[in-house]
Amino acid sequence: MSANCVTVNDVGPRDGLQSQSRILSPAERLELVEALVFAGLRYVEVGAFVSPRAVPAMAGTEQVLSGLATDRDAVFSVLVPNLRGYELARSAGASSVCMVLYGSDAMARANVRMDCEETEAVATEILQQARNDGVRVTATIAVAFECPFDGPVNPSRICDMANRFLELGADELCVADTIGAANPMQVRSLTRKLVEAHGPGQLSCHFHDTRAMGLANVFAALESGIRKFDASIAGLGGCPFAPGASGNVATEDVVMMVEQMGFDTGVELGRLMQAAELAQKLTGTAPGGRARAWLRRNLEGKADAQL
Ligand code: COA
Ligand code: ZN
Repeated sequence: MSANCVTVNDVGPRDGLQSQSRILSPAERLELVEALVFAGLRYVEVGAFVSPRAVPAMAGTEQVLSGLATDRDAVFSVLVPNLRGYELARSAGASSVCMVLYGSDAMARANVRMDCEETEAVATEILQQARNDGVRVTATIAVAFECPFDGPVNPSRICDMANRFLELGADELCVADTIGAANPMQVRSLTRKLVEAHGPGQLSCHFHDTRAMGLANVFAALESGIRKFDASIAGLGGCPFAPGASGNVATEDVVMMVEQMGFDTGVELGRLMQAAELAQKLTGTAPGGRARAWLRRNLEGKADAQL
């Protein structure tokens, strides 16, 4: 990845859809993923192998995966909370998984009924298994800045966790502000430490826009050298187990900002806006990126050439 490229992983079909009141069918979820790939996104988190009782919106992820042609230049990942989820993901043909670590015990319990130590033990097992299977692994550290139950998280705890899992062989380490509570100074400080220790190649960030600081946090991480970000089409999102969390920073806002700063994302904005409109049509609730009106107006004149 060149220093002038920014990669966006669209987590809308997973993080975005899991807390929507309208549950999409696997065929609708597939349509959304295809629209994102058509727009040029090369990383999409397409679902989760979790208990369908805990997250009904993610039931049928195996159907989403099996509907996707795998022989193309895109990485389709799925979230797995435990070894059972990993096994289900493997049987469904997943070649990239996202496993979750936690910055606080309370959040780990609310999400997966384990404490941090237990989730780390489970993640270590998943990682070992995945390395044997040749499966790509992203270790995401949820509530890496602040927990809705336990409050602020000590950054050195996050750095230690990141060191451990990169040493154990995770392909990517994603720092997640699950509830959208971090400010750009905190993001800059933590991402600088991580980039100094590991270089930017395996690091990524995941921001929610709860307090309207999503894009500012992306910028802070960019300044530290981070070049990969999770984002969610049309700003879909929110964690069902984290009170007060709103949607992820919108993919269209991140793409627009970094492209205007001179980075290449490989994403075509006209097609991305079509994907955003589809997300809004399917869910009825996706807020849409903050730059939506400007983007629409700006793209109108050249719609035929771009779409
Ligand atoms: N996928 C599907 N089903 C699973 C599963 C998985 N990954 N892990 C466990 N289950 C099933 C078990 O087989 C069991 O089924 P049964 O009742 O029919 O026998 C049931 O779920 C309960 O299993 P148990 O091990 O007792 O788990 P639990 O009730 O403590 O729930 C999780 C634990 C992890 C399965 C559940 O909390 C979960 O799926 N959480 C996901 C949360 C999430 O996705 N958060 C979003 C990330 S931000
Ligand atoms: Zn999230």
